[in-house]
Amino acid sequence: MRLGVLTSGGDCAGLNAVIRAVMLRAVYGHGMEVFGIREATHGLLCRPVAAIPLTSETTSGILHLGGTILGTTNRGNPYAYPNGEGGTVDRSREIIQGYHELGLDALIGIGGDGSLAILRKLALAGGWNLVGVPKTIDNDVDLTEHAVGHSTSVEIATEAVDRLHVTAASHNRVMVLEVMGRDAGYIALSAGIAGGADVVLIPEIPYRLEAVCAKIEERRRIGRNFSLVVVAESVKSPEGSVRMVTDAHGQSRYGGIGRVIAEEVAKRTGAESRVTVLGHVQRGGSPSPLDRIVASAFGVSAVDLVAQGRFDRMVAWQDRRVVDVPLEAVTAGTRAVDPNDTLVHTARGLGISFGEPA
Ligand code: F6P
Repeated sequence: MRLGVLTSGGDCAGLNAVIRAVMLRAVYGHGMEVFGIREATHGLLCRPVAAIPLTSETTSGILHLGGTILGTTNRGNPYAYPNGEGGTVDRSREIIQGYHELGLDALIGIGGDGSLAILRKLALAGGWNLVGVPKTIDNDVDLTEHAVGHSTSVEIATEAVDRLHVTAASHNRVMVLEVMGRDAGYIALSAGIAGGADVVLIPEIPYRLEAVCAKIEERRRIGRNFSLVVVAESVKSPEGSVRMVTDAHGQSRYGGIGRVIAEEVAKRTGAESRVTVLGHVQRGGSPSPLDRIVASAFGVSAVDLVAQGRFDRMVAWQDRRVVDVPLEAVTAGTRAVDPNDTLVHTARGLGISFGEPA
């Protein structure tokens, strides 16, 4: 049996740990042959298909490495592929054919919600046997408690809060940390709790600037002349708009809300404020032990699904177990922080403000 594996969407820590686990289980557990496809579906567009055999030699020493040895992309939707002249073209047929040209019997796609939806569409149209593995620092893939990469990003964001804590205290400043997460507030919420933030702003819980300032002033009254505010990138400005940045290629992403909050807080409270935008640091570096464990468990179980001929499924983490769920259900929506979540309750119990009016 010939198995393909690819990484798709934004990179994160732990992708190589999945690739390694897939190779080990497939080759040594099931006697399969494994090919790693380069740069997500881009590799399937190349002729010959851009892929490398995955063996103990080609995957040696990658468990602890960030990024992905296969490369990835979060651009180039096969159904709206840039045509080089500012427009787009549907290249899905060529990509579908790439799978068959490589002689694959099955494909493991490691991706976030967007990538998994595209891979599933290709699989249904082209007769691919697909199994998905969830990865994203945002942790917004539905039906799984863990996605590969999230734990590492929380670790990095927590370290940033820790570092900002001491400098905030030394200068009596309000430090605002803007973290990633796309439309979900998981990174901000977890790092805020783990780092002991005073205010956490997430897109799932509407805030009022007056309440944020009230928290900062309440701290001053008890002699704490500094505060730490963690803001998720997709939180809206006080006027109700999201802050976006657009790159030279016209691609937009969230960014900039941290500065808005820092400036408003300084204006309203008279405190000195500074902003840190953590950015892609959250995606790089060595995976945390939890990410390595989840990645390894997902890789092994994904190959087992292939061996059992159970396709159109995604491996997922639920109640301390790896289970599998229909890809159709996963790609129907995304996961966001539930305002009744244990972590929200925990944060409130610790006195962390979500900027809600009293
Ligand atoms: O989905 C992962 C993520 O890092 C988001 O948290 C962030 O909004 C986005 O990707 C950044 O995308 P890019 O890598 O294109 O800058």
